[in-house]
Amino acid sequence: MINAQEISALLKQQIAGFQPDFDYTETGVVTYIGDGIARAQGLDNAMSGELLVFENGTIGMAQNLETNDVGIIILGEFTDIREGSVVRRTGKIMEVPVGSALIGRVINPLGQPVDGLGDIRTIKTRPIEYPAPGVMQRKSVNEPLQTGLKAIDALVPIGRGQRELIIGDRQTGKTSVAIDAILNQKGQDMICIYVAIGQKESTVRTQVETLRQYGALDYTIVVTASASQPSPLLFLAPYAGVAMAEEFMYEGKHVLIVYDDLSKQAVAYRELSLLLRRPPGREAYPGDVFYLHSRLLERSAKVFDELGGGSITALPFIETQAGDISAYIATNVISITDGQIFLKDDLFNSGIRPAIDAGSSVSRVGGSAQIKAMKKVAGTLRIDLASYRELEAFTQFGSDLDAATQAKLNRGRRTVEVLKQPLHKPLPVEKQVLILYALTNGFLDSVPIGDILTFEEELYAYFDLHYDNLLDTIRTTKDLPDTDDLNAAIQAFKDQSVFK
Ligand SMILES: Nc1ncnc2c1ncn2[C@@H]1O[C@H](COP(=O)(O)OP(=O)(O)OP(=O)(O)O)[C@@H](O)[C@H]1O
Ligand SMILES: [Mg+2]
Repeated sequence: MINAQEISALLKQQIAGFQPDFDYTETGVVTYIGDGIARAQGLDNAMSGELLVFENGTIGMAQNLETNDVGIIILGEFTDIREGSVVRRTGKIMEVPVGSALIGRVINPLGQPVDGLGDIRTIKTRPIEYPAPGVMQRKSVNEPLQTGLKAIDALVPIGRGQRELIIGDRQTGKTSVAIDAILNQKGQDMICIYVAIGQKESTVRTQVETLRQYGALDYTIVVTASASQPSPLLFLAPYAGVAMAEEFMYEGKHVLIVYDDLSKQAVAYRELSLLLRRPPGREAYPGDVFYLHSRLLERSAKVFDELGGGSITALPFIETQAGDISAYIATNVISITDGQIFLKDDLFNSGIRPAIDAGSSVSRVGGSAQIKAMKKVAGTLRIDLASYRELEAFTQFGSDLDAATQAKLNRGRRTVEVLKQPLHKPLPVEKQVLILYALTNGFLDSVPIGDILTFEEELYAYFDLHYDNLLDTIRTTKDLPDTDDLNAAIQAFKDQSVFK
C-alpha cells in the first residue's frame, strides 16, 4: 500500500524538472488545517487542480477556489503543517505517466505499479484534467463496440465513442459485464482500461487474474484505488484513467474505459468536500458533484480524422440501493450518458444472467452502430420481449389460452433463455446473429427450455465445422447470408441432432 509520503515524493519529482514560463512566487498562508485538507489565503491566482507546495515540502492540490481562500487536498504528511504555514504555487497541474508501457500492468492513480512486476518505463505524461474534444471535433458514433453479450449487443448496442452507464444494486453482475466486454475485445484493435475505485484489494486481484487467464491483460491497463487508500486517490482514479486513454485516442487508437464505480468516487469526493467545510447539498454532496462526473465523461468521444480518428468508449458504473435510480448521483450520471443498462437483482436471483432489464435499459446512439445482420434479427426483439412480459403477467392466472397466445408465451420464454449467457463466454457477433435468427424464425420453438443452452453450443460447433462459410459471410459482409441457405443449414443441424 502506498503511503502519504510516497505520493508527495513522487509529485515533487514531477515538479522538479518543471520550468514555469513566469515566476510562481505567489505564496499563501494556511488559515485552517484539518484531516488531510487545508485552507489558505493569498493564492489569488491559483488554478483549480494546481499543485501547491507547503513549507515542509508536502504537496497539495488546489480544490475549491473562493474569493478569499483556496481549499487544498494534502497529498502527503500534514502533521507539521500549521495555521500560518506558508504554501506556494507551482503553476503545474497534476500529471500521470501515459503510453503503451502501461499496458498489461496494474497501477495506482499516480501511475505507479502495484503488481510487483517492477518499474514501468514511460517517457510521456499527461495532465489528469484536460479539456474534452469540442462539438466540431467529434464524429458521430457509427462503429459498433461488440461486448460479446447477446443481451447488450442485440438490445442495447454500444458504439465506439459512446458513454453507456451500467447501473444496478450490489451483487447484480455489474463487474462481470465489464470484464466480459473486455475479454471480447481480444483481436479487436482495442485498448482497455479498467479503473477500480474503492473495491477490495482481493476483488481487484481476482479480476486481474481473470483478465490474465483469458489473455486480456495483453491489451488492458488496470488502475486501482482500493477501499483502503486515502480518499484523494479514489477521487483522482477516473481522471488518471481517462488521461491515459486520451494519449491513445489522440494517436488514433480505440479505447474502452470502465469506471467501476463512480458512486464510490462521489463518496470520496463528498468526504473531501465535507472536510473542506464546503456547504453540503442534496444527500450531503457538494454543489458541484454533477461537474465531477460531467467533465470526466465528456472526455470520451470519437474524434474526427484530423485529430487521429481514435475513440474513447466509457462504461461508467453506478451502484444503486434497492434499485432506486432516482437517487442524486444516479440521476446525474443518467443525464450525462448516452443510455443506461439496468441490472436488476430479482432477475439476477431468478437465474436470468446477465440480469439486464430490457424494459428500462436504453442505448441512445448505439443502434446506428449495429451491423446490418444484427439489426435484421434483433429489430423486433425488444418489443417482443416487452409484450411477452405483459402477456406473462396477464395470463398468470388464466387457464385455457388460445393457440396464438400460447405461441407468443412459448417464444417469449425461449427469448429470455437465449439472452442468458454464462460467465466469461463472450460470443462473436456472427454467432449472436445465428442464434437470434434461429430464435426469431421459429427453429427453437420445439426445443425444451432446459435444452436451449445445449442447442446453442451444438449449433455453434456444427456451423464451425460445416457452415463456416455462412458465418464468414456475416463477418465480412456484415449482412445476413441468403436466407434459404441459412434455413437449410439450421434445419440440417436439427435433423442430425436430438432436437429434430
Ligand atoms: N452471467 C453470469 N452467470 C453466472 N454468474 C454470474 C454472471 N454474472 C455474474 N455472476 C456471478 O455473480 C456474482 C456477482 O457478480 P459481480 O461481482 O459481477 O457483481 P457486482 O454487481 O459487480 O457486485 P459488487 O456490487 O459486489 O461489485 C459473482 O460471483 C459472479 O461470478
Ligand atoms: Mg463489482
